[in-house]
Amino acid sequence: MSRIRQFRWSDYEAVAEVWRAAGTDVVGRAELEAKLTRDPELFLVAEAPAGPRGIGGAVMGTFDGRRGWIFRLAVHPAHRRGGMATGLVAELEQRLTNLGCPRINLLVLPDNEAGLRFWQRLGYLPCPDVLFTKPLATSPSS
Ligand SMILES: CC(C)(COP(=O)(O)OP(=O)(O)OC[C@H]1O[C@@H](n2cnc3c(N)ncnc32)[C@H](O)[C@@H]1OP(=O)(O)O)[C@@H](O)C(=O)NCCC(=O)NCCS
Repeated sequence: MSRIRQFRWSDYEAVAEVWRAAGTDVVGRAELEAKLTRDPELFLVAEAPAGPRGIGGAVMGTFDGRRGWIFRLAVHPAHRRGGMATGLVAELEQRLTNLGCPRINLLVLPDNEAGLRFWQRLGYLPCPDVLFTKPLATSPSS
């Protein structure tokens, strides 16, 4: 079982590599810095001591005081189907629970079969809501 812990900046390149290998957008350093001023304890990594950079997976959570959100869950292909994502999400759920969060939301692309199966296996249910989004003038790229 890999150790799950809070992200530290020395993990950044390893996490970016995991995101790239998983086909997930890489969160840039400036955007990440802004996120970490709010809830650093909700950005988690899974250690993989045998791997080249020591990190096998990552997940980013947020809590707005009413809902928790999960973003950018990814496990490097070399470490999949060993429970790493399950461990990351379990730890994030525990941390959100400790903050008093009553419900977690997340987004999965409809063609992401592995993602859909994974979340349903963990008890997450699909909702019929459609995501609407609008970039604001001050936002970087997201
Ligand atoms: C989805 C993802 C995070 C799963 O990571 P993982 O560490 O392999 O997941 P786990 O080992 O904890 O899997 C738990 C369970 O989820 C389900 N599952 C996971 N991957 C699956 C797949 N490719 N196909 C079918 N079911 C899958 C299985 O029920 C699995 O249990 P089992 O291995 O005992 O059958 C990983 O495949 C990934 O990084 N994908 C690319 C990025 C992504 O899609 N992120 C999530 C979308 S937000």
